[in-house]
Amino acid sequence: MLLSNQVTLVRMLLNLCIINVRSIVSEVLTRLFSFWMGENKAQVSIQPKRTNLSSTTPGEVPTPMSVNYHFTRQCNYKCGFCFHTAKTSFVLPIEEAKRGLRLLKEAGMEKINFSGGEPFLHHKGVFLGEMVQYCKQELQLPSVSIVSNGSMIKETWFQKYGEYLDILAISCDSFNEETNQTIGRAQGRKSHVDNLCKVRNWCRQYRVAFKINSVINTYNVHEDMTEHISELNPVRWKVFQCLLIEGENSGENSLREAEKFVITDQEFQDFLDRHQSIKCLVPESNQKMKDSYLILDEYMRFLDCRAGRKDPSKSILDVGVEEAVKYSGFDERMFLKRGGKYVWSKEDMKLEW
Ligand SMILES: C[S@@+](CC[C@H](N)C(=O)[O-])C[C@H]1O[C@@H](n2cnc3c(N)ncnc32)[C@H](O)[C@@H]1O
Ligand code: SF4
Repeated sequence: MLLSNQVTLVRMLLNLCIINVRSIVSEVLTRLFSFWMGENKAQVSIQPKRTNLSSTTPGEVPTPMSVNYHFTRQCNYKCGFCFHTAKTSFVLPIEEAKRGLRLLKEAGMEKINFSGGEPFLHHKGVFLGEMVQYCKQELQLPSVSIVSNGSMIKETWFQKYGEYLDILAISCDSFNEETNQTIGRAQGRKSHVDNLCKVRNWCRQYRVAFKINSVINTYNVHEDMTEHISELNPVRWKVFQCLLIEGENSGENSLREAEKFVITDQEFQDFLDRHQSIKCLVPESNQKMKDSYLILDEYMRFLDCRAGRKDPSKSILDVGVEEAVKYSGFDERMFLKRGGKYVWSKEDMKLEW
């Protein structure tokens, strides 16, 4: 009897060892895979995930897999290059916004990104929080994200809605406060960079993946941000070449004149070369950016940027998603080419908190 118990115990211990060896081998393989894929080794180790690389053929209606909903145009900052300006103060009633989000989900949406204007401005972030919660809890979207200037976010927002949010991107174009003031990326004399660091810490505390967006323009094109970005260690650093959009930041009826912010392709490339040691950097030249985003405006109309301006479709609330998306100008091939489909669910990222 005693002998049989001892044999069972030895068997159990052996099994435990085998399981441990297996998990160590699996972890090593996962890390090697992340390394080969050029992912950010320091913060994330990404589980391999099959990517659907199929793309629409010309004339075929694209699936709105990843959508950017700019539900407000109002903002508390005055970035001189801004390409989504305060042309209206309209925001849909929350129930209508939710109806549109459900239609998008039924049409195949997997990722929603809330943008603006400044998304935390309307109803002090409660409107945004309700949509974030609805998209994760009710619609069960794999990825819910926000792009914000970060200045209006409060810790109480994370306490209430943080669990429903996968990724928070904060825009920061410079680590020099004078440059931020010159760009208009500021409210009064408050430090944009201090705020960025504060939000970064909340992301860590409330388990939200942290991302940074930077627009490269004449005022920051010679800056070296390597040290600051390495320290902040975002899951992704999106680096945009400043883009002109007629009617928004250029030409007649525009609220900005962004011509003086525009840089050449070579200047953009030099900036990228200077930051090549940052593995999470995702570059977006004007060419890559163009037509590779599905943009919904405050009326839930797709915006077609093919002609260098934002031409609206009819609202998905009036004609449905399939009809409206035909007029979105969206190029699914460009979307895949710019790496638009990535590991975007926080459950699939192994974040070091
Ligand atoms: C229009 S903003 C709205 C969200 C929020 N207010 C912010 O600034 O992050 C969305 C993103 O577009 C970027 N952006 C604005 N104007 C741009 C331009 N002319 N070229 C490239 N990116 C631009 C912003 O820096 C930000 O990362
Ligand atoms: S880019 Fe600047 S001005 Fe434009 S919406 Fe964002 S924070 Fe506001």
